[in-house]
Amino acid sequence: MADKIILTGIKPTGEPHLGNYLGAIKPALEITKANKLAKKYFFIADHHALTTIKDQSTMRSYRYEIAATWLSFFDGIENCYFYFQSQVPQIFELYWILSCFCPKGLLNRAHAYKALVSKNIANNADDDRQINQGVFSYPVLMAADILLFNTTHVPVGIDQKQHVEIAIEIVKGINHHLKEKITVPVPLIDQNSELIIGIDGQKMSKNYNNTLPVFSSEKELKKRIGKIKTDSTELGQPLNWADCNVAKIFSYLTDDAQQSALKLKYETGEIGYGHAKKELLDSYLNYFKKSKATFDHLIQNPQKIDNLMAVGLKDILAVANKNLSQVKASLGF
Ligand code: TRP
Repeated sequence: MADKIILTGIKPTGEPHLGNYLGAIKPALEITKANKLAKKYFFIADHHALTTIKDQSTMRSYRYEIAATWLSFFDGIENCYFYFQSQVPQIFELYWILSCFCPKGLLNRAHAYKALVSKNIANNADDDRQINQGVFSYPVLMAADILLFNTTHVPVGIDQKQHVEIAIEIVKGINHHLKEKITVPVPLIDQNSELIIGIDGQKMSKNYNNTLPVFSSEKELKKRIGKIKTDSTELGQPLNWADCNVAKIFSYLTDDAQQSALKLKYETGEIGYGHAKKELLDSYLNYFKKSKATFDHLIQNPQKIDNLMAVGLKDILAVANKNLSQVKASLGF
């Protein structure tokens, strides 16, 4: 079998939160450790973010924040490439080529586009009101991200599964026309991201305003943790570990021994939720301490982020050029 090439994109559309860490960064770290020899590409999908973010300073700060977040967790880890999608223009050339091999019906059926259309219909508005062409062709750009590098494996959350399936449909179609076939990728679906709860007990998502930031100040984090929804058990009474949002979030970041110790305090009734939240805050700060120091340093020195994102760029562009040239040659360009 050909060498593994693992690739995933991260859309910079908000402040990084615990759900992003547990659902994307941590699995990527695990895959990286389990596949030391594979080539790993992790890129910031900034052009995908443009479908929704049009403001200059918002785009700029999210690009840097998300880049600094990933760089801080991958500090010292080798054999990984980091780049901004916008640094690789070959993606956009391949995007157009793929568009010409992508049945429009495939895009009509894409969940994200369909959800927007349904919302318009429910509001008695025109089907395509406020839907830009970028939203419609989003899956084709994503296919270009993946296919340009002959990616073998694409780790993504379950919400992105259909997008990878669309990329597979497209590559199967275009491959009939190519002398050197593009690799058909396999999605590696992480189920975890759906199960991470936010401070209100629902799935953690920026859309529900229930997130816990990864790298905020202690004061801000304390405020957010203070808002975690709990029941009204009186102080001195045993607390219900299995149904407690504080306990669930605590479990994401701690080992069995730490969990058993806190569980015991729940069961004996010796602590209330205020104390449990304090333990969660301490564990949280401790868990992210090392990465936060790196993150803070990078955010204060954006030039360093630019430098780190440029480290492997020459290699990336060389691969991109080679693969794109082969596709174009097969098509008579
Ligand atoms: N659409 C993905 C998301 O919203 C981000 C993304 C863009 C991506 N291109 C990709 C993921 C290629 C995997 C592979 O999370």
